Amino acid sequence: MATKITPFAISALLVVLSGSASAAPEGIASVYEDSFLVGTAIKSSDLTGNLPAKNSLPCSEFNALTAENAMKWQHIQPAPGQFNFAMADQLIALAQQCGARVIGHTLLWHQQTPAWVFEDEQGNPVSREVLLVRLREHIHTLVGRYKGKVYGWDVVNEALNEDGSLRDTPWRRILGDDFYVHAFRFAKEADPEAQLYYNDFNMYKPAKVAGAVKLVKQLGDAGIKVDAVGMQAHYSLFYPSLSDIEQSMKTLRNAGVRIAITELDISVLPLPDDAFSGADITQSFAAHPVYDPYVEGLPATQQHQLAELYQQLFALFLKYADSVDRVTFWGTTDADSWRNNWPIRGRTDHPLLFDRNGRPKAAYEAITRHID
Ligand code: G3I
Repeated sequence: MATKITPFAISALLVVLSGSASAAPEGIASVYEDSFLVGTAIKSSDLTGNLPAKNSLPCSEFNALTAENAMKWQHIQPAPGQFNFAMADQLIALAQQCGARVIGHTLLWHQQTPAWVFEDEQGNPVSREVLLVRLREHIHTLVGRYKGKVYGWDVVNEALNEDGSLRDTPWRRILGDDFYVHAFRFAKEADPEAQLYYNDFNMYKPAKVAGAVKLVKQLGDAGIKVDAVGMQAHYSLFYPSLSDIEQSMKTLRNAGVRIAITELDISVLPLPDDAFSGADITQSFAAHPVYDPYVEGLPATQQHQLAELYQQLFALFLKYADSVDRVTFWGTTDADSWRNNWPIRGRTDHPLLFDRNGRPKAAYEAITRHID
């Protein structure tokens, strides 16, 4: 990753010099420090009460932190004009303590946005003008508060269908097809130095990544630079193929678009449906023991498969290191992963680098030992 002297870098340096934080990456982040950042998502319960200690896994292993939920609209502005920054402030404090960068997630999404945002007092859809004012106020308040403290923002999340067309959401219905341009414009106004990202799942699909490239170009035509496209990377032992992922990375690189792997995890559990993929939180299937075979722990065979796949993925990320800025895991230990509850609630999944007791798994060893 190219080193850039930005106001963020200067303020991070001052923090280090003042002795209030250690910016020396340790753990897995130090293994990849010459190539890209390695991050994790911080769950909300780590942002209430005492912060994770300096020697805790999120702090000692990673150098980029994303709030898994705490910065989503429903938490930040649950009611009109009622902003709740407690957890987000804690994320900033945690990152300062760890010497890590903060990634803001997310400013415009069709999920986890309260209904009031799109409605008037009678419950009817608001006008374009009213929604633009609400979006502007939300983004300026949030991004403005953390100006110089958040390194980059997932400005728009999951705006595309699987075929690369724009998803039908209240944002699009009310604001029109250029709804995302407004979000980027407001974010840019509020913190001109922050990195700005478009973030989506299933980006290994050619049509979807083509849709993202189109979106980036349209933003470019509107005078807005998208600093990276986020490939969420909610994968499984059974999909996608490495060659599909590589093809998408090539597509982005050939289009001059930088890449962030933003929400990496690999489910080991059987799929409820052969055609199943993605991360659409509205999908859900009924529980059955056949879909939950590793309640007592992950057998050696699957442990090994997971390690091998992580190793191959990181080899791929290194191959494209000149285009990859960051690889963020969607959580630290298996106990905390959202995949235990999606697409079937209450399962025991094993998708991350650390087991339920916080011990490094074979996958951790595989990507910290073999990095050629
Ligand atoms: O905190 C409440 C708890 O009090 C309550 O008892 C429980 C009952 O269901 O719900 C808890 O809230 C849940 C929250 O996660 C915290 O665990 C919500 O129901 C649940 O909807 C929420 O899910 C999050 C999901 O986004 C929706 O916001 C996941 O944690 C989070 O991992 C997931 O992350 C998304 C990214 O933001 C975007 N990309 C896809 C990714 C996975 O869906």
